[in-house]
Amino acid sequence: MKAAILTQGLTKRFPQKVKGKKEATRGKKNMKTVVDRITIEVPNGQFLGLLGPNGAGKTTLTKMLVTLLLPDEGTALVNGYDILKEPAKVRGNIGHLHGETGGRSLYWRLSGRDNLKLFATLQEVPKEIAKKRIEAMISYFELEKIIDREVRKYSTGEKVRTMLARTLIHNPPILILDEPTIGLDAATAVETRKFFTILNRELGKTIVFTSHVMSEVEELCERIAIMDKGIILADTDPHSLSALVKEQQKILIHILNMVDKKALIKYLEDIEGVKEVVLAVERSPITEVSVVVEDELKALPILASKLGEAGYKVTSIEVEEPTLEEAFIKLTTKKRE
Ligand SMILES: Nc1ncnc2c1ncn2[C@@H]1O[C@H](COP(=O)(O)OP(=O)(O)OP(=O)(O)O)[C@@H](O)[C@H]1O
Ligand SMILES: [Mg+2]
Repeated sequence: MKAAILTQGLTKRFPQKVKGKKEATRGKKNMKTVVDRITIEVPNGQFLGLLGPNGAGKTTLTKMLVTLLLPDEGTALVNGYDILKEPAKVRGNIGHLHGETGGRSLYWRLSGRDNLKLFATLQEVPKEIAKKRIEAMISYFELEKIIDREVRKYSTGEKVRTMLARTLIHNPPILILDEPTIGLDAATAVETRKFFTILNRELGKTIVFTSHVMSEVEELCERIAIMDKGIILADTDPHSLSALVKEQQKILIHILNMVDKKALIKYLEDIEGVKEVVLAVERSPITEVSVVVEDELKALPILASKLGEAGYKVTSIEVEEPTLEEAFIKLTTKKRE
């Protein structure tokens, strides 16, 4: 079976700004490789999360897949069509939503319905089919009340739902969603994520979803590719990622008044379930201490009561999730082991 997406050595370089010069120059020395020979295969029907910090190259990679940017080297097949040789076919097989540009990818002075009609025409959807599909979209995304209003009057959530309808208007088998939940409030983000799950699980769409929020990708995706500095650092599944995160969970404790740091560390190290005291810093009048434990839920009440017994004034005690960067460091060092 052919893959939904297959990239081969996909590479993009951008001219870099040089200190003292106004314009970025295209001299050989000043080029920065932003996507570095990426080869990845996404099978049909997969929900892939592309996770990485700001500037990792996620957007650049996805823009090449949707034919908005030309690669400097390598190529990719989208549903079997070459992005360099058959860009129109590629666009017909892919729906692209770029969260950062938000509602700007819709025409603000047109109604939602007119936007959908326009995009259907641009995607060469036959008129009769477009008509039926637009009606289906309106009902599916619950747009009945707003669809004939100008887009500029929509709330962010309504814009996102209309954008999703636009993305799907030509019924593409593959969706590229570049940070689609950016700028949404928590409730709207949850609702939007529900749509993505349905699109993948029930309608069988292949989805590539970029984000720098670990929990979001973990919740949605069956496969997670972690990208940094233009390369794929790790290709894993949510289960392995959460195991890794759990391994690094720490408990952060704030203690009021200056304390004897050495005595505090010694006292904590002797408490059952404490693996390591990683950090104790004084930020007068608070001492902050970070503790690695075997099981944070068990350790939390034990630590609180033991510290209380010894007379420490605990002002806060909470589980601290590792940052994406910490998980990356762990993953890359693991890879080298
Ligand atoms: N048109 C451009 N010209 C020059 N440099 C660019 C251009 N587009 C992107 N870059 C640079 O390429 C690098 C990767 O950017 P990209 O937008 O792909 O990252 P990203 O992983 O999507 O980050 P974010 O999480 O912030 O969206 C960044 O250093 C960025 O400044
Ligand atoms: Mg981006």
